[in-house]
Amino acid sequence: TKIAVFASGTGSNFDRIVTEMQGGRLSVDVCLLVCDKPGAAVIEKADQYGIPSFVFDAKQYDKKESFEREIYEQLQKLEVEWVILAGYMRLIGYTLLQAYPERIINIHPSLLPAFPGKDAIGQAFDSGVKVTGVTVHYVDEGMDTGKIIDQEALRILETDDRASLQRRVQEVEHRLFPATIQKLISE
Ligand code: GRF
Repeated sequence: TKIAVFASGTGSNFDRIVTEMQGGRLSVDVCLLVCDKPGAAVIEKADQYGIPSFVFDAKQYDKKESFEREIYEQLQKLEVEWVILAGYMRLIGYTLLQAYPERIINIHPSLLPAFPGKDAIGQAFDSGVKVTGVTVHYVDEGMDTGKIIDQEALRILETDDRASLQRRVQEVEHRLFPATIQKLISE
């Protein structure tokens, strides 16, 4: 199953998806990285794996539709079937939503609908909740609002600080995301 991963930052989820694929535990072909942040660390990771990337700067375009059309051209050319958002810090617009109905998924580091948007881990930590977690969901036009596919909960410990909580949430992400993708594509 051909997939494209969209990411804006470090790319630890991207990395895990690729290594699970290489280890034969995830039956996908990661054909393309799409990145909206020139210079992001994830681009170098894709280069090291020999995975092509489409990197763009939204400021160079008049509107979302313009860069999404270019992205869509790339996806079509490569016959991409699923779009996987792994830390892509931008809302998906009509062009891609329409082209990939129920074929765009996202990972979010909280138990949605709690703590949508940026810094979900910090939001959870500051709020004093005792349980948080990770959500994988379909993408719609909203911010972290699409139909939930799977979730895993994680207890916030007395001894946690933001950094340790972040580490533990990311460990859950790295396990849950590839497993959920594998389930979806084999349905
Ligand atoms: C992850 O926590 C993901 O849930 C969120 O952005 C972060 C990306 O991390 N949407 P990385 O770039 O995969 O390391």
